[in-house]
Amino acid sequence: MAKVAMLGAGFIGDFYTRSIIRERSKDSIIVVCDADVQRAKTFAEKYGIPESTTDMQKAITNPEVEIVVVGLPNNLHMEAVLMAADAKKAVLCTKPLGRNAGEAKKMLDAVEKAGVFNGYLEDLVYTPKSLYSFESIKNGVIGKVIWVRSRETHPGPHSDWFWNKDISGGGVMLDMGCHCIEIARQYIGKDVKPVEVVCWADTLVKPIDAEDNAIGFVRYDNGAMAQFEVSWSFRGGLDLRDEVMGTEGTIWLNNFLRTGIEIYTAGGKKGYVAEKVESDQGWIFPVADEVTDLGYNNMFNDMISAYENGTECMETFYDGYVVNEIMDACYRSAKSKKWEPVNLDVWRGQEKAEHISAFEEFDEDHLLIKEELIPDGTTKRILKNKKTGVISQHILQPSR
Ligand SMILES: NC(=O)c1ccc[n+]([C@@H]2O[C@H](COP(=O)([O-])OP(=O)(O)OC[C@H]3O[C@@H](n4cnc5c(N)ncnc54)[C@H](O)[C@@H]3O)[C@@H](O)[C@H]2O)c1
Repeated sequence: MAKVAMLGAGFIGDFYTRSIIRERSKDSIIVVCDADVQRAKTFAEKYGIPESTTDMQKAITNPEVEIVVVGLPNNLHMEAVLMAADAKKAVLCTKPLGRNAGEAKKMLDAVEKAGVFNGYLEDLVYTPKSLYSFESIKNGVIGKVIWVRSRETHPGPHSDWFWNKDISGGGVMLDMGCHCIEIARQYIGKDVKPVEVVCWADTLVKPIDAEDNAIGFVRYDNGAMAQFEVSWSFRGGLDLRDEVMGTEGTIWLNNFLRTGIEIYTAGGKKGYVAEKVESDQGWIFPVADEVTDLGYNNMFNDMISAYENGTECMETFYDGYVVNEIMDACYRSAKSKKWEPVNLDVWRGQEKAEHISAFEEFDEDHLLIKEELIPDGTTKRILKNKKTGVISQHILQPSR
């Protein structure tokens, strides 16, 4: 049974708390900290948490606290993590780890130097659908992954500080690009080095200094490509989709807008449907159990079990640091309008990955390019001669 300090009683603090103390959970939150005294009190009452405070240091150094969960605005992640490392407490931090790679690296160094357990709270790689897809890829179901497209778009965040670049550190690319980038790393292989990026980012709809829309490409050392698409001005709810293209198959995954339940309501449900949904009338697409479907339960199960067993969890501060380095390169590219290298001061994966190659041998002299059944019933077989390079097609009559 782990005893937790929850820093932040806002939107994500609420999701995390519901997940950690859910149902017959063994874990307990023994203190909640929020700068808003009333919010902290109300939160503590709602969830039966014995102590609430506005003093972060007090919450972290409470002698009974084993794990500190950081669910604070981005400008406070580093301060909270350094305090937790100083107090030798295990620490789990929400995304993005830092406002930039410099902050993330300081946090990584601090927890590693202090020797404390650390987890990067990237819930979207823990959704049941994501975990199922990762396992399918491990089992060779779609062959080698050559392209990943990950999209997270919604009508914009729910609190003022997100829109203030000094506090948040950036716009939608930092806020949601981090999810898409880590999702793609999981599909491509976290030991394959991200090499370079090219990115477009602009401010099109919202009156802010940061970008509200962005698209980027991250090229990996084995030739795989990851594409992310993020927006704070998408209308229609929270669109969370991934597409993975492999040499032997495809995965399409929709975590939110089409989950299998579609309800039509003429009168309106008059209330919350799911995160960032803009309407409660007409066709609505509820998410049956957001805490489960967004990955929070699997994430805390993995992290707190790893803490108890003295093992490493699936997502650590190191992963958060790599994601921050990729995003820093994306910001450089959005400015320069050129491919920019990903500068990883710390890299713990393969130094040189084997380039993706899936050529199919047809016979001693030929490689198979493809075979296709044509509407007239014949099959076209397209071959390449290994020696001469000549490409030829052979029409096979239907067998009776
Ligand atoms: N899916 C996800 O992983 C996910 C989703 C949403 C937010 N987040 C992340 O969670 C973090 C918090 O976002 P949020 O949506 O909960 O924001 P929020 O505005 O809903 O809540 C932030 C809370 O922090 C409190 N706070 C501010 N300054 C404080 C201080 N000095 N000490 C203590 N409390 C303080 C505020 O009073 C507020 O209650 C951000 O880093 C965000 O990126 C992650």
